[in-house]
Amino acid sequence: MTPKQTENLFALTTPLYYVNDVPHVGSAYTTMAADAVARFQRLQGKSVLLITGTDEHGQKIQRTAEALNRSPQEHCDQIVSSFESLWDKLDIQYDRFSRTTASRHADIVKEFFGRLWDKGDIYLSQQQGWYCVACEEFKEERELISEKYCPIHTNKPVEWRDEENYFFRLSKYQQQLEALYQERPEFLEPESRRNEILSFIGQGLQDFSISRLNLEWGFPVPVDPKQTIYVWFDALLGYVTALLDSDQEPTLENALSQWWPINLHLIGKDILRFHAISWPALLMSADLPLPGRIFGHGFLTKDGKKMGKSLGNTLDPVALVSQFGSDAVRYYFLKEIEFGQDGDFNLTRFVNTLNADLANDLGNLLNRTLKMVHKYFDGRVPEVNLAAMAEDHPLKSYGQTLGKTVAQGYENLAFSQICEAILNLVQAGNKYIDEQAPWSLYKQGKLDLVKSVLYSVLESVRLAAYLLSPITPNLSNRIYNQLGFSIDFNDKTTIETALPYETHAQWGVLPADQRLAEPQPVFLRLELPETLSS
Ligand code: MSP
Repeated sequence: MTPKQTENLFALTTPLYYVNDVPHVGSAYTTMAADAVARFQRLQGKSVLLITGTDEHGQKIQRTAEALNRSPQEHCDQIVSSFESLWDKLDIQYDRFSRTTASRHADIVKEFFGRLWDKGDIYLSQQQGWYCVACEEFKEERELISEKYCPIHTNKPVEWRDEENYFFRLSKYQQQLEALYQERPEFLEPESRRNEILSFIGQGLQDFSISRLNLEWGFPVPVDPKQTIYVWFDALLGYVTALLDSDQEPTLENALSQWWPINLHLIGKDILRFHAISWPALLMSADLPLPGRIFGHGFLTKDGKKMGKSLGNTLDPVALVSQFGSDAVRYYFLKEIEFGQDGDFNLTRFVNTLNADLANDLGNLLNRTLKMVHKYFDGRVPEVNLAAMAEDHPLKSYGQTLGKTVAQGYENLAFSQICEAILNLVQAGNKYIDEQAPWSLYKQGKLDLVKSVLYSVLESVRLAAYLLSPITPNLSNRIYNQLGFSIDFNDKTTIETALPYETHAQWGVLPADQRLAEPQPVFLRLELPETLSS
């Protein structure tokens, strides 16, 4: 297969979400993170393909549709539109929406199955075990809680299965997987998840069934139409189907010709084994190169339990974004929860964080500085000699290294540290302006000093807005517009042409004499609501 053509492409995925219910904030979490990475990579000048989508087959979806008296397809179509509309509200700029019920996906799954079949990696055998329909996964007896619940879905008993199924020879790939993890430690992050997977592999891998009997909702097994392809086999391949251009014939060769291998799979920790063990093994069996990197983030919890559709303890992201806007939601989840760790949601903390960081520290700093520039310098960026500014100037010295730190942070998916580092500059800006008191310098007639103070604060706010733009694109737009740029961080073409990281992530970019807009609050203070309603 052709390796990826150029270094300049970056493909990444969110999981393909189950459509048993409308999206909750847990599903939005991965997608917000993926969108931030995609936006950062675009700023770096990469051509980006952000893939998201839905996983629509299997027993869980079939049962959900039956309970609602809908046909499965009708049900999927309805839920899919709620995902699309949420991604819109959250300003998610996805490039592909992969639906596993698409007919082109059927072709890809069939061809892929054929490869594994020809390799001799698929055989018929008896499957016995406890099945969690909510996970769509067999569970070991020792994993069960009170002998009948899987650890994640503590309200849905597992079901006993005893049927003939097709199996994939996972055990054959034990050594290759061990070698993969030895040779490429970056393949799976964070480290704690890698250790978990290494210890699982160390226990000895067992073949797993990739078909189901008595299940209508799915693709038929090509060699035996009485059997239906297991939902996870079909779902993982949704990533491959998504790589096809809309006018391309659905063949594996076409799908893999441009964007494969995918650079990054972002997933939650509950679906680690599928991505970190089954997926590479399936690809090895098909003789395909492996993805670049998998990152398993933690859970958003409520009272310590994973928020989820199956437990019914979710938070409605539509209500949240309708009430507070997409920047607020994106910023809160990416800043307040360390990516990789679990984190509890708390509405009071949500409101307090946003007011402190975005309304007060960042918004007010811009507002008061702009007012002074309007008053003292007719609303134009003051001219200063940047080279003459002392190297230990608190804003200049910090600002000059921040772009690099933040780029490293985005590469490492350390969103929380990124926000902290940017906020440090903003807080230093507040401290600096208070200490320098340009209003009294002005009264003393020290105009050059006033110019230098105001310029360095405005420039720091600009830099902060630029570096935050993958997380808070609308806020960054408002700041950039007030600083006199006519630029839109939501416009992919502008990003490519006018906002390259190597220039805008530097300190000292704001052009002298640029006309500034009238000061307007860029982030309105939030009120703590009594309840959330969509
Ligand atoms: N359909 C599979 C994925 C197939 S990928 C080829 C699936 N879907 S899911 O809708 O149940 O979950 C999708 C993602 O949302 C998973 O990464 C999961 O970890 C994430 N989350 C679901 N609930 C979550 C939280 N409460 N917190 C954080 N992420 C959570 O699994």
